[in-house]
Amino acid sequence: MKKFIFDTYEEVCQAASELYVQQLKEKPGTVFGFATGSTPVGLYNELAKKYKAGEICFSKARSFNLDEYYPMKKDHPQSYDYFMRENLFDKINLSQFSLPSGEAPDPKAECKRYDEEIAKAGGIDLMLLGIGHNGHIGFNEPSVAYSMGTYLTKLTQSSIDANSRFFGPDEVQPTQALTMGIGEIFFSKKIILIITGEGKAPIAKKLFDGMIHTDVPASFVLLHPNVTVFMDKAAAGE
Ligand code: GLP
Repeated sequence: MKKFIFDTYEEVCQAASELYVQQLKEKPGTVFGFATGSTPVGLYNELAKKYKAGEICFSKARSFNLDEYYPMKKDHPQSYDYFMRENLFDKINLSQFSLPSGEAPDPKAECKRYDEEIAKAGGIDLMLLGIGHNGHIGFNEPSVAYSMGTYLTKLTQSSIDANSRFFGPDEVQPTQALTMGIGEIFFSKKIILIITGEGKAPIAKKLFDGMIHTDVPASFVLLHPNVTVFMDKAAAGE
């Protein structure tokens, strides 16, 4: 594991974006794994800037997102589909992107279809992860057993509360999601984990205490042979 700690969130995003430049140089047809949440927004802005400046090109790349609320309409402003279009896909030349569909009538069939699509693309080359306050990655919540592939999961109250800030008072907030499993995330060739902000300091402390905590899903990521962690000083408790 490589771990880099920067003074600010902006520096984290800048440094992480350099890995994307490098990755696309090495493999223009990279299969990316993308995440949502507030953490990757700065990185997505950097990628959009770099695309505009002609420093990166996504024309041969494709991507799969970690998760989507269920049920969720694609064009709902709180859908992860909408989030990705607004924050990244509308700003770069990536035309092949997929998310699990929150509109699918049969979630089990949708998970199977999504896993098959990922496998057909050759798996994820570079997976981007944020982390929940309870250590979740994607929407793999703390548990005693973890899924290999994409599955329908119930969100914990803490994740529902953490994400309630995005929903208006009259909007119904979903309590379930379709998420890639821990196994699928782990089989990505490379992983980038970004942890920023003071609020993430307690979970970061537990994550890096030298133990693999089975109730911290992000712990499994630390076993991966090619993982780069970017943190700011606030999350690192400095
Ligand atoms: C969300 C997403 C995760 C994300 C996490 C943290 O609910 N499912 O992929 O990493 O929670 O979000 P944030 O970056 O806003 O703290």
